[in-house]
Amino acid sequence: AILNPEGYTIHVHSDRIDISASACSGFFYAFQSLRQLMIRSLIDQRSYHITCCYIVDEPRFPYRGMHLDVSRHLYPVDFIKSYIDWIALHKFNFFHWHLTDDQGWRIEIKKYPELTRVGSKRIRTRRGHQNNPNPEFNDEEHNGFYRQDEIREIIRYAGDRHVQIIPEIEMPGHCQAVLAAYPHLSCTGGPHQVADHWGVFEDLFCAGNNKVYNFLEDVLSEVIELFPGKLIHIGGDECPKRRWKDCPKCQSRMHSDGLDRADQLKSCFTHRIYHILEKLNRRLIGWDEILEDDLPLDAVIMVWRNQDIGVKAARKGHDVIMTPSSHCYFDHYQADPQSEPLAIGGFTPLEKVFQFDPTSNIMDVDAATHILGGQGNVWTEYMPDTSDVERMVFPRIAALAERLWSPLNHRTYSDFYSALSNLQKQYEIMGIRYYCADYL
Ligand code: ACM
Ligand code: ZN
Repeated sequence: AILNPEGYTIHVHSDRIDISASACSGFFYAFQSLRQLMIRSLIDQRSYHITCCYIVDEPRFPYRGMHLDVSRHLYPVDFIKSYIDWIALHKFNFFHWHLTDDQGWRIEIKKYPELTRVGSKRIRTRRGHQNNPNPEFNDEEHNGFYRQDEIREIIRYAGDRHVQIIPEIEMPGHCQAVLAAYPHLSCTGGPHQVADHWGVFEDLFCAGNNKVYNFLEDVLSEVIELFPGKLIHIGGDECPKRRWKDCPKCQSRMHSDGLDRADQLKSCFTHRIYHILEKLNRRLIGWDEILEDDLPLDAVIMVWRNQDIGVKAARKGHDVIMTPSSHCYFDHYQADPQSEPLAIGGFTPLEKVFQFDPTSNIMDVDAATHILGGQGNVWTEYMPDTSDVERMVFPRIAALAERLWSPLNHRTYSDFYSALSNLQKQYEIMGIRYYCADYL
């Protein structure tokens, strides 16, 4: 008796295979497992012969996600589809699509054509590491975006694979690309540039200008017309408040609302977006900074700085998705930086990912039920090519999949490690480019 809609049983007899599940998604995951069993037997025995077995399987967490930043570097539609295939193969069920940021706006919005005409183009890109004191640039234009018909096709493709897409529209920070297109939405009025380097920028949406809220409501209305899923990600991370402190419109809004700190203005901003999404029958999700905005409890907190913030959010009653940079940032180095292609920093080898536990430090059962699961994040400042993304994702995604699907302590790292050469062969059969080094 499988009650989890994503769970299934497979009974391989000598003359037939029985599969049971309580919902389509369970059958889908049963077939993913059969596919893997067949590939494994192809590797071991050079035939599609599956040994008799009985499998009872269901996921540990309802949210198993992978993220991809397409603002810093844009990837073709076919690659996005492959990415969704790989997500489904590892039995993940969410794709968090980071569509907008300082370095490029990547989603067509019919009402605001300048977003893509201006905001999807950067004329040059910083070369080498962001912290290098002598900046160099390559003078190639980087541009492009996904048309609405392409987005619809991708959503359909993902739906067929039981993958829900969460679009992310960043606000009130990480929006230089918007401000380049529509400078009247900033505190200073511009001019602004689509960013040609990485980092955190001071210019934000002006929180004291009603045109900003009208603009964001229009954009979100088009976004929800495309994306049928309930969750809409609004970013909310890394927003310095200096511009708001210097801006007459922001100051006048604070004065009329009786606020004395810019943090409170951020909270008002996020509340307004919350109510726009509520009106559109959607649920707000944002990076963990939004916990400080004191939103209604149905807002979902996506934790990136450290898991303790998630524990606090869960105790308060928010649903939480854990994606701590310590274990889940696949833009970090996976081996000694000296011997690796350039990356943003950090150190998150395969074993570290394998040690991830979304519910670590949660003592009370009530709070634990608010931990929906976890996600791997792929920020692409240092991944200009699709092969870079593959090298950073594989095989770390497999370690994460183990953590999000299987019971805790189901396998040791040494079990996982001994299966790695088979996994690599599987990736080779599937044409996936993976990172390979001596992990021990
Ligand atoms: C983030 O890494 N700024 C969410
Ligand atoms: Zn302002």
